[in-house]
Amino acid sequence: MKVVSVIGARPQFIKCGPVSRQLRAKHEEIIIHTGQHYDANMSDVFFRELDIPAPDYNLEVGSGTHGEQTSRMLTGIERILLETKPDYVLIYGDTNSTLAGALAASKLHIPVAHVEAGLRSYDRTMPEEINRVVADHVSDLLFCPTRVSAENLRREGIEQGVSVTGDVMVDTLYYARDQRKLTNAPVHELGQNPGDYLIATIHRASNTDDIRNLAAILQAFSDSPFTVVFPLHPRTRKIIQNEGLEQYVGEKIRITDPLPYTTMLSLVSNARAVLTDSGGIQKEAYILKKPCITIRDNTEWVETVQDGWNVLTGADRHRISQAIRDLDHRMPRTHSEVYGDGHAAERIVSILENSFTGT
Ligand code: UD1
Repeated sequence: MKVVSVIGARPQFIKCGPVSRQLRAKHEEIIIHTGQHYDANMSDVFFRELDIPAPDYNLEVGSGTHGEQTSRMLTGIERILLETKPDYVLIYGDTNSTLAGALAASKLHIPVAHVEAGLRSYDRTMPEEINRVVADHVSDLLFCPTRVSAENLRREGIEQGVSVTGDVMVDTLYYARDQRKLTNAPVHELGQNPGDYLIATIHRASNTDDIRNLAAILQAFSDSPFTVVFPLHPRTRKIIQNEGLEQYVGEKIRITDPLPYTTMLSLVSNARAVLTDSGGIQKEAYILKKPCITIRDNTEWVETVQDGWNVLTGADRHRISQAIRDLDHRMPRTHSEVYGDGHAAERIVSILENSFTGT
């Protein structure tokens, strides 16, 4: 079986590691890196740390408007698919790279397999929501991380080719943990004590492109009684600099560059709590049993909220501060393996094999 995997943004590198390892044990995999994320600390470091094979192609599309970025990817991916003629194209998550991979392959009648299918925020102002809805509707095999995501697809009339496999991010997390890559060292390097700091990430368009939202978030972080360790996504860094928002970065905020995967997870697992607008980190906080404050109005990872580990505040200074104050009285209700057991990649490759041989 010959599979082309299309990846391009930081969370996709993290997701593709375990699947790639399983695939390459028996099959041919060709990796296309679209170049959506190109800074070394947003890309290369993840390949090294997570033992992901070097990409066979790098389209180097870089930044641009959604249309510019997606169209450059589409042209590049189509050319490679015509050249390599794979049996399947694997796409991950909900980025512009996911959308481009889905469109290029489906128009060439190459079966599309979507890892992390069926997630919905029901908020079409998010570019990620448009990307995942389109990707799901042209996919032939849909690998859902949870039952809720499979149910979302059923409500949209998608039932064929759907499987609940568990989440590949759990596979990656367990892989790093089993290799003893999660330690206290990054906590001490930052001069912090376990349990005494918060860790934050902010990069969603709704929180960065509207500078009133970003200012409110920075003010809430500055008001925190705990130090807020804040690895800055390049998008967020540029906006803080260009819009003169440094004035809102108070003493409690400890800014760092984007961090490697194991450093980030080590910091999450030792933090008092997590502040984020990322999808993946909400889930990682849940798996590591850390309270999470999500700076969005909605979430695709509804189980984290239902089980009492996650609260939604939106970009509201007072609600964020209140959620930080409430950390002492928060009582998560339950915890389960709702995101899987760390063997999602094996299931995904076995379903691909069965589909390929027609069994
Ligand atoms: C993208 C995804 C989002 C995902 C996130 C993970 C889309 C629409 N969004 O958002 O779903 O959660 O990645 O990080 O696909 N930049 C750099 N260096 C880099 C990468 C980006 O400087 O290595 C800058 C560029 O100037 C760019 C901006 O960051 O304009 C945003 O990058 P982009 O790829 O558009 O999306 P993300 O915000 O990273």
